[in-house]
Parts: sequence; structure tokens; C-alpha cells
Amino acid sequence: MDTLTDLPAFHPPVPTPRQDSPGLIGLLLALRRNPLTTWTERHFREKVIVGDGVLGRIMVANDPAIIRHVLVDNAGNYRKDDLQMRVLAPGLGRGLLTADGEEWRLQRRTMAPLFTPRNVAGFHPAMNEAADRLVRRWRRRPDGRIVDVSLDMTRVTLDVLERTIFTSGISRNPDALGRAITRYFEGLGRIDPVDIFGLPAWIPRIGRLRARPAIRFFEEMVRDLIAARKTLLAQGQPAPRDLLTLLLEAADPETGKGLSDLDVNANIVTFIGAGHETTANALSWSLYLISQDERVRTLIEAEIDRVLSPGPIVADQIERLVYTRAVIEEAMRLYPPAPFLSRAAIADDDAGGFAIPAGTVVTIAPYVLHRHETLWRDPSAFRPERFLSPQREEIDRFAYLPFGAGPRVCIGATFALQEAIIVLASIVRSVRLDLAPGHDVDPLHRITLRPRHGMPMMLKARGKGV
Ligand code: HEM
Repeated sequence: MDTLTDLPAFHPPVPTPRQDSPGLIGLLLALRRNPLTTWTERHFREKVIVGDGVLGRIMVANDPAIIRHVLVDNAGNYRKDDLQMRVLAPGLGRGLLTADGEEWRLQRRTMAPLFTPRNVAGFHPAMNEAADRLVRRWRRRPDGRIVDVSLDMTRVTLDVLERTIFTSGISRNPDALGRAITRYFEGLGRIDPVDIFGLPAWIPRIGRLRARPAIRFFEEMVRDLIAARKTLLAQGQPAPRDLLTLLLEAADPETGKGLSDLDVNANIVTFIGAGHETTANALSWSLYLISQDERVRTLIEAEIDRVLSPGPIVADQIERLVYTRAVIEEAMRLYPPAPFLSRAAIADDDAGGFAIPAGTVVTIAPYVLHRHETLWRDPSAFRPERFLSPQREEIDRFAYLPFGAGPRVCIGATFALQEAIIVLASIVRSVRLDLAPGHDVDPLHRITLRPRHGMPMMLKARGKGV
């Protein structure tokens, strides 16, 4: 008997893999509409697929040993490829996500201490306050009211970032900041054909033109916030221990040098850009999956009712919410918030017997890897138990990559997981959510993996509230 696959399970919707690769025009159209629809059956079955096309040589790697080679063992031979940079850099500047070479190494060394488990634990109160605000708002609604969970998860993750970066009250106009951030990233979220063909940065991208006023407003606001905090620190006045203060005080452990104003600015934008929609999607997909599986819903509600009491969720409780964490991890397996990573080989290389000539783009797609037939049992089924001991120990470190791996692994992974657990547990403690009847759930890859038509769900109060 197989304890994992004997469990009844929900198989959530995704585009059916194609039988054959689309031609060039078909590929471009599919990339624009939804890159998830470009994957073929072979990608989910074969460990390595290499192809030469107009975009150069591309290797799709689903072999944990090759992935480990590219991301860890020989990471120095691989850089982030140009397409990612063209899509992300105009919005994020030279922050940690888009910096390269020595510039990246210096920033990473300087910022690593910001995200230690101890510092992240210092953010639990801010995470609880943001979750609380959302749940209180929802509890004021009558039972049966439909809310767009996807929109509210974006709001709550932005609220967490505002509180952990700037601390509430420092930003003079938090709602305006929230709106500006949303508009700023909306303008950047689409892969433009102009980027695919690598045309120069001065050629206007329509989405970005539309976002220009929001970009200006947002950038000015961040500049003002940095200036105000620097004055406070220079005067020796007590300043909140948020990410802004930590960034301004950060020093390279090797040289003692701090970050420039431009670096601080780029990294604030990067933390918001890399941290809000990703975490929001992990939460939306978790809530959707829970709503579709009564067995999982019963188990997660029971755990949360057993572990939590009213009031803020503390570190020791987070550790005991093992099933809740497994639900989030399984949601990120099925719907990885960052569904696609890629690297370009700098010099000729060889991985597991496969030649990788210089210039090859190695594609590591968590969306495909996490559903690969050779790596997972019943890959399309929603079964959080995979992430509980002892089954968990069977998962290869390089078969599950929601946060990437190696030197460029997500610096915010601990932050994101703690936040997701606090927000999800706060929600499940106080409300039950059911998908709006007749709603069509359609996963869309647009830098992150989000529900195309939002996630309208029906609210019902449960438990004693917050
Ligand atoms: C569920 C939420 C999140 C997911 C799934 C996620 C995923 C990822 C992945 C896959 C990478 C590696 C990209 C690559 O190797 O090409 C990455 C990098 C990064 N993430 Fe996250 N992330 C999340 C939340 C956050 C948060 C909350 C922050 C900051 C507060 C953050 C900041 C960053 C930064 C700065 C990098 C670049 C690191 C470097 O290159 O050194 N992320 N993230």
C-alpha cells in the first residue's frame, strides 16, 4: 500500500500539455498569451530537451543532477540571461535580483544579514498586524459575500512590505503608496515581443509607457522616504528597526562599505517587486486548493484550531503549524509563483554527459520540474502529505525549487514562508472560503504564476475571530 497515492486527491486545472512544439509564430503568440501553454508532453517526461531556434540554443533541464551543476557546482559559469534582464531591469534597476558579477556579490554579502532568521522573526508583529487588518475587514462582511482573494492577497502582502520596509506611519500616505506600487508593477508585468528580440532599451514598451506617471510618483516617494530616514539616523534619533534602516546601516562584512543611495533605492523597489506578487500568489493558490478538498480543509482547520489561540501568532506556533506549511509548499509545487528560471552559459561546459556550448540558455522551469513524471508520484494531484515526514525526505533538493537554489537562491525565502504561514493561518482561523460558483480558474504565467481571472471566493465566518 502506498500511503501517499492511496489518499483521494483533487487534480487542479492547468493547460493540457501540447503534443508537439508550436512553430515560431505559434510560439510567439503562446508566449504572449500564456507561456504555460508552450510546454509539450515531452517536457513532462524527458529529463533534458535541447533545441536550436531563432532564439539560440535552449536546454530545458529537468534532471536534478544537471540543475545542481548549473545552479550550484558550476554556478560561476552561468549568468542570468538577457531576456530576464530586459524584462526585469527597467523596473527594478540594479538591485539584487538584476545585478550581476562583482556588483551582485557585493550587494548579496552586504544584505544577507538583513534576512537572518532572527531579523525575520523581528517582523512577525508586522506580519500579524497586516493579516489581522485583512481578517477584521473580512469579518465585517456578511456571510456569503464574494471577495477577490487574489486582489486581497496582493493587498495584504503589500501591507506586510510597507510595514516591514518603512514601518506604518513613516509613509505619509500608505494608500497612495499601495496604489502607486500596484500600477508600477502592472506596467512591467508583461513580456513584450520587443524584449524577446532584444531590441535596445530606448524602444518604448507600450505597457511601460502607460506606467510612466506611476513610476515617477513611486520613485519620488521612495526617494523622500530614504532622505527622511537618513536625516533621522544622522541626528542620532531612534529609528524603527525596519528594512529601510537595516539597508541604510548595512555594511559589507569584508570592506565595511555601505550601500549607495542608488543601491538602497533599487533594493527597496526589488524587495517590493520580488516579494509581493510571489507571496500573494502562493497564498491565493493555497486558499483555492484548500477550498477544493474537504479532507485537506478539515486537517488544516483542526491543526490551526489546536495550535493557535486568539491574538498574534508567535514563532513557536509557526513551528508547530506543520500541516499548514505543507499545504503552502504543495501549493507552490503545483503553482510555483516563480514558474521559470534561466541561465546563459558563459564558457563551454559539460553536465551529466550533455555538452553545453557557451551561449546556451539553460531553462529550469519549476512549473515543469514540479510536475515531472519521473520525479513525483501522481504529480498533478494536490497532496500536502508529500511535504510531511517521512515522505518529505524522498524529495530531491533539486526537484523542488520554488525559491531557486545556489548562490542566487531567493534571499527572502524565510521571510516569505513565515509571512505565508502567518497570513494563511490567520485567515483559516477566522473564515472559510469557497470558490464563487461557476468561476473558471485559469493559471496564467506573467512573470509570476497567477490566476488569470482573479480568485473570487465566498466568505463565511468561523471560530471566534481574530
Ligand atoms: C513565495 C514567495 C517568493 C518566491 C516563490 C520567490 C522566488 C524567488 C526565486 C525563484 C528566486 C531566484 C531567481 C533565480 O535564480 O533566477 C528569487 C530571488 C530573489 N528573491 Fe524571492 N521569492 C519570494 C519572495 C521574496 C520576498 C518576500 C523577497 C524580499 C523581501 C524576495 C526577494 C528576492 C531577491 C532580492 C532575489 C534575488 C536574489 C539574488 O539574486 O541574490 N523574494 N526569489
